[in-house]
Amino acid sequence: MERRTSRNVAFTCGRWPLDPGRSTLVFIHGAGESSLLWNAQVEGLKERANTVALDLPGHGRSGGRARQAVQDYAAVLVDFITAIEAPRPIPCGLSMGGAITQQLLLDPAAARFQAGIIVSSGARLRVLPALLDQIAADMRGYADMIDRLGFSEKTPAAVKQPFLEDSLKADPRVAHGDFKACDDFDVMQRLGAIRVPVLVISAEDDALTPPKYAEFLEQHIPDSTRAHIRDAGHFVPIEKPSEVNAAIVRFLDANRL
Ligand code: COA
Repeated sequence: MERRTSRNVAFTCGRWPLDPGRSTLVFIHGAGESSLLWNAQVEGLKERANTVALDLPGHGRSGGRARQAVQDYAAVLVDFITAIEAPRPIPCGLSMGGAITQQLLLDPAAARFQAGIIVSSGARLRVLPALLDQIAADMRGYADMIDRLGFSEKTPAAVKQPFLEDSLKADPRVAHGDFKACDDFDVMQRLGAIRVPVLVISAEDDALTPPKYAEFLEQHIPDSTRAHIRDAGHFVPIEKPSEVNAAIVRFLDANRL
């Protein structure tokens, strides 16, 4: 896995330079997180597609300021994809990243995207007031809450640890702004306008974006398929990487991407 930077945006990639003959999976992390979330996909899918995971501005190793709205993060993605000249980009986002993916597919410039992948997300992402309060109060309490609500009880502590340590490094103001952006997000009435194939990945034990949200996406996005993964929570790419990667490969193969 390589680490690179483009115009102040840090990213990891399976290979560089990107292969112009392949699609590019562009992985987008969720609120207060970083590209670390996608390490197993960036590495594990690099033989099948170009794989790139960015740190959104103000997150991880990226400079710049965090944004306050999903639409503004979507604009960041368009700039990033243009700057790295990603061939045939396919946005793949988790939670807030899934909201950014929906926003990208709904954008008038969506013609540039041939498909999308929405993981542990929903068309509306109201946030528990207690979660917002906890971020403002103390980050360790927030990390405890993420540990409790974000993972399946069956996921071993050693699997969660690097991610939880990474969450503690987040700037509380950035994390709070991200969750506020989620809270304001609502495209429930607009999903029918998505015109490309979409893979919806959900997890059985997800308490933050329950499977009900994925059912709604599956029912309302015209060309959607769903992979529902057992014994995993919100952070399914970390908890069940092989299952997530296999679902993505099936989707790419089925749609000749
Ligand atoms: N897809 C499908 N249905 C959805 C939905 C989505 N994305 N978002 C909300 N709904 C449903 C709810 O299930 C609810 O249905 P019900 O009336 O049959 O129970 C209804 O729409 C209204 O829900 P909501 O607007 O979210 O308000 P609420 O007052 O019921 O709940 C919360 C507010 C915060 C308690 C709730 O949204 C929640 O538990 N969220 C998950 C926890 C969280 O903070 N996640 C972080 C996401 S980034």
